[in-house]
Amino acid sequence: MTRPIIIAPSVLASDFSRLGDEIRASAEAGCDWIHLDVMDGHFVPNITFGPPVIAAVRPAAAIPFDTHLMIAPADPYLESFSNAGSDRITVHAEAGPHLDRSLQTIRDLGKQAGVALNPATPVSAIEHVIDRLDMVLVMTVNPGFGGQAFIPAMLDKIRQIKALIGGRDIDIQVDGGVTVETAGPIAAAGANVLVAGSAIFKHGATSYGANISAIRQAAESARGDIC
Ligand code: DX5
Ligand code: ZN
Repeated sequence: MTRPIIIAPSVLASDFSRLGDEIRASAEAGCDWIHLDVMDGHFVPNITFGPPVIAAVRPAAAIPFDTHLMIAPADPYLESFSNAGSDRITVHAEAGPHLDRSLQTIRDLGKQAGVALNPATPVSAIEHVIDRLDMVLVMTVNPGFGGQAFIPAMLDKIRQIKALIGGRDIDIQVDGGVTVETAGPIAAAGANVLVAGSAIFKHGATSYGANISAIRQAAESARGDIC
């Protein structure tokens, strides 16, 4: 069965001084999830925000909060991110020695569990935890910053992950350099959750709806969902 295309704006590219309003505006513009990039200045060379900020903006939209943890270690903070209102929590395969335990913890908290793979990390990193996963996040840039160029070699990785997943109920998410131009090849390769920061938040709130629909349409038409 074809999984629906999900568009998840990354608030990293939004106006942080009005974060709640930006989340509300993206939800009203028709996105499906809100993608929250948490960075610690250690696992990645940038620092963003943590659980208190997520809790503060949680009331801004009644759609899933998809929290992408670029932090090491992640395990001590999983409960805080859950309590802050994350519906889905993704940890990096490279961020700790006990990936299986991290995934069990996320599910025990009642949340959807994801694993993110940096561009250089092979697909085999998820082979033995595949049945603990609700989502695989394929990083298509090196994590840490928005506005970077999509790495084309990741299309083959998406295809490999699609084959590994087979008939399981697991989403494939792509994060980094997603634009109207890259959305088609990404969806054709087998990903169904598209994270986009700059491509959605550029040019202000009046363009969010058009930006979201353009990415969705490019992805759906590449899969043949629409004519
Ligand atoms: C990068 C983040 C991404 C980033 C994507 O480390 O995980 O979510 O915001 O930004 P764009 O869409 O601008 O590449
Ligand atoms: Zn992200």
